[in-house]
Amino acid sequence: MMSSQSVPSASPHEFDRLLESIHSAHRDNRAGALADYIPELAKASPDDFGLAIATVGGRLHIAGDAEVPFTIQSISKAFTFCLALELTGRDTVLTRVGVEPSGDAFNAIIFDAVGKKPFNPMVNAGAITIAGLLCETLGASAFDFVLDRFSQAAGRPLTLDETVYRSEAETGHRNRAIAHLLLANDVLKVSPDEALDLYFRQCSIRVTASDLARMGATLANMGENPVTGRAAFELRAVRNTLAVMFTCGMYDYAGNWAYDIGVPAKSGVGGGILGVVNRQLGIATYSPRLDARGNSVRGIASFEMLGEELGLHAFDCTNMGSSFVSTLIR
Ligand code: DON
Repeated sequence: MMSSQSVPSASPHEFDRLLESIHSAHRDNRAGALADYIPELAKASPDDFGLAIATVGGRLHIAGDAEVPFTIQSISKAFTFCLALELTGRDTVLTRVGVEPSGDAFNAIIFDAVGKKPFNPMVNAGAITIAGLLCETLGASAFDFVLDRFSQAAGRPLTLDETVYRSEAETGHRNRAIAHLLLANDVLKVSPDEALDLYFRQCSIRVTASDLARMGATLANMGENPVTGRAAFELRAVRNTLAVMFTCGMYDYAGNWAYDIGVPAKSGVGGGILGVVNRQLGIATYSPRLDARGNSVRGIASFEMLGEELGLHAFDCTNMGSSFVSTLIR
C-alpha cells in the first residue's frame, strides 16, 4: 500500500508505473482457458493482456495490449440496464427484472419463481429481458440507440463485430431456451427472436481496454464523458447501475469480488473486466483466458493488485488510497 507521505509528490505517472508493474507481474500467468462455446471467441490471441485507467479528469493511462479490440460481451449488460432505466423508469424496470444476486452461473436457465422475474440484469435471463424492454420501447432502432450511447460513453464511434454476432446467433441455443422461459412467464413482451437479436448484437460490440476504461470513467463521472463533456447516461440510472454491478456484476464470484476488491464491476467472456471507482476512475483489463466462472484470470489478479496498491475498496477504513488517487485524476 502506498503511504500517505507519498500523497504530496504524487504525479499522474504513478498510474503508468503501477500499470506497468501489474502487467509485468501477471504477464506470465497462463492459467485459464478461452471461451469456446461461441466458436469465434476461441480465435482470440490467448496471450493478449491490456490494462487501462481513465480518470474523471479526462486522462488515460495504459499498459500492454490496451488498444487490441475484443467483444464487450456481458459488460454490455451494465450499460443496457442503465439505458432501460433512463427510457422506461426504475419502477417499470423493477417489474421485469430484480436486483438480487442469483449465486448462479451467468447462463443459468433460471427464474425467480417468487419474484416472478429474472434475478438481476447482469445474468443472461435478466439481460435478455432488458433487451426485450429496449426493443419494446425503441422498436427497430434499438440497436442503433444502444451503439450510439455506448459510443458516446467511449468517446469514439464503436462498431459491431459481425463475425462474432453471427457466431453467437448460430450457437446461442441456451439463450433461446432462456428467452422462451421469459416469454412463458410474461416478462418478455416481444418475440424471443427480437430480444435475442439485440442481445447478441450488444454482446458483439467491439471495444478495447481503453474504450472500456473511458466508458467506466463516464459512469464514474455521473454519466458524462469526461473528455467530450457530453452526457451518455442519466445520473439516477448511473447510481442504480453501479449498485447492481457491485452486488451482481461478477456472477457467482460477486460476493468474493465485493469482499476482496470492493468496486462495482462487470466481466465478459470476451476477456474484459470493467471496474468503476465512483467519482474517480474507470478501470479496464483485457486478457481472454477465463476461469471456470467465465471471469478473466489475469483480470481478477490485476484488479486485486491495483485495488490493494491504490486502496480502492469502497470500505477501506483508512481511505488512504482514495486520497492518493484524488491527487492524480485531474
Ligand atoms: O450470453 C452469452 O453467451 C454471451 N453473449 C455473453 C456472455 C458473457 O459475457 C458472460 N460473461 N462472463
